[in-house]
Amino acid sequence: MAHFPSSSNRSPWRAKVVTLFPAMFPGPLSASVVGGALGAGIWSLDAIDLRTFGLGRHRTVDDHPAGGGAGMVLRCDVIAAAVDAAAAEAADLPRIYVSPRGEPLTQRLASELAAGPGMIVLAGRFEGVDERVLEARGLREVSIGDYVLSGGELAAMVMIDACVRLLPGVIGSQDSLGEESFAAGLLEYPQYTRPREWEERAIPEVLLSGDHKRIAAWRRDKAELLTRQRRPDLMGRRSR
Ligand code: ADE
Repeated sequence: MAHFPSSSNRSPWRAKVVTLFPAMFPGPLSASVVGGALGAGIWSLDAIDLRTFGLGRHRTVDDHPAGGGAGMVLRCDVIAAAVDAAAAEAADLPRIYVSPRGEPLTQRLASELAAGPGMIVLAGRFEGVDERVLEARGLREVSIGDYVLSGGELAAMVMIDACVRLLPGVIGSQDSLGEESFAAGLLEYPQYTRPREWEERAIPEVLLSGDHKRIAAWRRDKAELLTRQRRPDLMGRRSR
């Protein structure tokens, strides 16, 4: 078990990842604000090596699919042992299995998970896991998008990043969390900075006007226009 420790005395948000590739962690999660927050003890990470729960001399974790077919399936008994070990001193953590078959990861789900104590994430490989362990250990299936990755590790990292950046103290200005894409169910409005004119393209006049009401109205219009054009599905889902 690789443990990436915390130094603060406040109890950190906990991520425990069950994986055949613990060396992939923290990987990109050690960079930027999320990595800084790991070092500062705002969250903690355990990468739990599924292989250590494997069976026999070869530490076998998988077997052929019942009923035949291509590929290999991760064994329920091996996964259960690893998830139970992860949950041993963390019974309160929700359990997630990242899989293309899961419910979509949304900003709402990330906020819900960030508001809790952390999560145990099972990253699969091969053709998937024996269905029985999902039921028996209460694993919630979550997908990060309609495409198939070679394994769940990158999906686990995406989920952790989406949650950790919402924890208090991770991102300098909490205002920027309120204004970003999806916060109000809309995509974010376009941003500009200096120079005022670049390759004959000027910053929209209204943004230089100093008129905060007009600026807010312009941004709202742009956000709605972009959302209608690119993600009409989001317009229908909005609560206001
Ligand atoms: N594992 C492989 N593909 C995935 C996806 N799209 N989402 C979550 N986990 C995955």
